[in-house]
Amino acid sequence: MTLARHDIPYKIYVRHIYRIRSTMVSIICFGNQKGGSAKTTSAINIGASLAAEGRKTLICDLDPQGSCSLGLGVDSYQLPVTMYEVLCKDTRPDDAIVQTAIDNLALLPSNISLSAAEFELISAIRREEIFKQKITTVASNYDFVVCDLPPSLGILTINGLAASNQLIVPVECEFYAMAGIKTMLQLRDLVTTRLGHSVETRFLLTKYDSRTRLSAEVEDMVRKNFGDAVFTNLIPRAIRVAEAPSHGSPVTQYAPTSKASIAYRKLVKEEILRIVG
Ligand SMILES: Nc1ncnc2c1ncn2[C@@H]1O[C@H](COP(=O)(O)OP(=O)(O)OP(=O)(O)O)[C@@H](O)[C@H]1O
Ligand SMILES: [Mg+2]
Repeated sequence: MTLARHDIPYKIYVRHIYRIRSTMVSIICFGNQKGGSAKTTSAINIGASLAAEGRKTLICDLDPQGSCSLGLGVDSYQLPVTMYEVLCKDTRPDDAIVQTAIDNLALLPSNISLSAAEFELISAIRREEIFKQKITTVASNYDFVVCDLPPSLGILTINGLAASNQLIVPVECEFYAMAGIKTMLQLRDLVTTRLGHSVETRFLLTKYDSRTRLSAEVEDMVRKNFGDAVFTNLIPRAIRVAEAPSHGSPVTQYAPTSKASIAYRKLVKEEILRIVG
């Protein structure tokens, strides 16, 4: 039964709301229509950094490219069920979730079979909220659920947005940095108006190269456009980041002293845990 303000004394009502809020799991999705903006890298490394802080974290791969699995050393092609079966069949998320080699970090993997979901879900009832319904059944087992979205604006991205209370848009400090952001935000607004579900949005500057003027210009432009919604910490470009997936490990584990690893951990400690922890 849901308690309404007029049913009970104010103090009890406030305590009731506080309890709901403080036990609410944070579901964070990483989205940007622009390919290669570091959505997957950020999802994996922020997920691993949250886990390293002792927060039970589940990474959900909503991208048929299956890069989260690769980056976490999980061979999703050897698994009997993955995200596809969770969204399109009767499979429960618990049956598809696997523990990673990292303490406190679990993965709901995907692979190319998930690309069929774009077509198969077309006729499903409340197709935009299937992931939300499914993930709700396990979310309370975790402190954080992190979702990696594909670089497209289809039904998988809509499902990720509809399930999340936070959207982080990684922005690559490169030419065309703003491409993809506008359409991503339009889709987020559509989810808000159509489904009545709002998502708090933040921006993360990635692949920042302090030697180039372009990176500084992109940073200026993004901060001017989105102000306080841009994380103060940014992620520098570092060669070790590109090497890490082939070792099946987040860079924060593979090369903990890399400047990108230090930046991801600092971002989590100084901002993410303070804002949504
Ligand atoms: N800080 C960084 N320094 C150097 N390389 C990086 C950094 N972040 C990401 N990369 C590299 O950039 C490429 C794209 O990153 P990633 O796969 O995370 O982007 P994405 O937004 O998930 O891409 P897609 O849109 O295809 O899903 C990868 O090769 C990754 O290793
Ligand atoms: Mg990706």
